[in-house]
Amino acid sequence: MKSAIISSKRDDSVYDIDVKSYRYLSTTSHHKFVPLSINSSSKGEVSFYDIDYIANGRKMKCKCPNICPSFLKEKPAKQILYGLSGNFKTGMHAIMGSTGCGKSSLLDILANRKDRHGLSGQIFVDGSPAPSSFKYMVGYVVQDDIISETLTIRENLMFSANIRLPRDVSHVERVERVIKVISDLGLESCADTTVGTEFIRGVSGGERKRACIGMELILARKIFFLDEPTTGLDAATARKVMKCLSNLAKQGRTIIFSIHQPRYSIFKLFDTVTLLSEGEMLYHGQAKNLLNYFSQQGYSCEPHDNPADFVIDVLIDAQERPGALENLRLAYEKSSMHQHVMKLRKQQFIDVNLQIRTSRKSAKPTISLWNEFYYICLRTLKNTFRNPSLILSQIVVSIILGLLVGLVFFDLKKTTDPGGSQVLHNVGLDYTTNWDLWKNFFGLSMMTVGLFLLAYIQLRRIKKTK
Ligand SMILES: Nc1ncnc2c1ncn2[C@@H]1O[C@H](COP(=O)(O)OP(=O)(O)OP(=O)(O)O)[C@@H](O)[C@H]1O
Ligand SMILES: [Mg+2]
Repeated sequence: MKSAIISSKRDDSVYDIDVKSYRYLSTTSHHKFVPLSINSSSKGEVSFYDIDYIANGRKMKCKCPNICPSFLKEKPAKQILYGLSGNFKTGMHAIMGSTGCGKSSLLDILANRKDRHGLSGQIFVDGSPAPSSFKYMVGYVVQDDIISETLTIRENLMFSANIRLPRDVSHVERVERVIKVISDLGLESCADTTVGTEFIRGVSGGERKRACIGMELILARKIFFLDEPTTGLDAATARKVMKCLSNLAKQGRTIIFSIHQPRYSIFKLFDTVTLLSEGEMLYHGQAKNLLNYFSQQGYSCEPHDNPADFVIDVLIDAQERPGALENLRLAYEKSSMHQHVMKLRKQQFIDVNLQIRTSRKSAKPTISLWNEFYYICLRTLKNTFRNPSLILSQIVVSIILGLLVGLVFFDLKKTTDPGGSQVLHNVGLDYTTNWDLWKNFFGLSMMTVGLFLLAYIQLRRIKKTK
């Protein structure tokens, strides 16, 4: 039990941002940054064992299937992942496989962002079961970024710093951190350029992607998950983004990402490769041993072929040939890579009580609700003023709303009608057939509900990234 206490204490501090060690050191001749700190006690090691995932694993209780709307009907359960186990340490870890093989699902599960229904298995961080607040302790860069397009890169990063750094981090330190992230990601030349929309010309795709990474990097996380960080980027830009991630990995981070058809120059940056096919693992080991392993299985890569393209071709070929995929799966199960993971599993499953203790921990909010509200309002204001079409649509909506409200009080006889019966008449409460006004009121209410919903969705999206 002693080990449990030590472990749970360490768990709290592992991902804490060590602000004091990130100081803007003023020297006589120049200013120098100490690198963005990562708590040195964390190894940034993620292990996962026996991950099974069944989509639509939640059973809907619709007793009358004939009259049930289709979205309430039970959908057929589908197994997406089959008993995946593995281990990631600091470095660059690529998850590869043909489309629909389960890469994003595995990433979501590892980052604790999947609904628990239909999910089984264990995730360990630095040898201890991942706490329930794990998703707040890692960086997660989604494919559809949530960066604000009317703000500059620096303003976006400042927003992330303001809303996500703990309250005891001073304003100066936040600014310093933003400057450091900009420099780490090589974004100095475009830091004050608006990100850009379909209508406003902004930064390039690669710069935008790096800015999204920066939004997470602000928190100096040790572990990063990225879902297809190079999708939609041209070859040179994709390499720039991956090189940037590789530099972050060299600073001692664990970077886990899914990727489609990387070029050889990008493939060379990977430390390990995890190959999935139809939800099963076929390789989980050093990138440099990949070709050797597949040649042992009877698949040789031609001298000038890209290893990443080659293995995907092997997987597609194996899917088409009866028994070939099963042979590859069995070969992996017998391989030293899998045996190594199983050994780790045995070590880490020692104390089941420990898992229960640590997994009950919950995340603490980093800033107060008021501060959060303030920064979101500030961002929305900036966003509104820099987006003429948005202002125009809001003016039009306000005029329409004003007219609708005005209609309620239209023709009100102040002196002769002190009881306000005219208002009641206008809104249809005098039981006359003032159906149009009822409709107006209904529309007004729906619009208000809609606006609240929009605000709520935006808040949820921001909260999700915390
Ligand atoms: N909620 C769900 N219901 C039904 N099927 C699902 C659900 N979520 C995922 N799937 C299926 O699981 C499979 C794996 O999905 P996933 O998004 O993980 O694949 P992927 O490897 O990331 O694919 P891609 O390379 O196209 O991004 C797909 O066939 C997908 O259709
Ligand atoms: Mg995907």
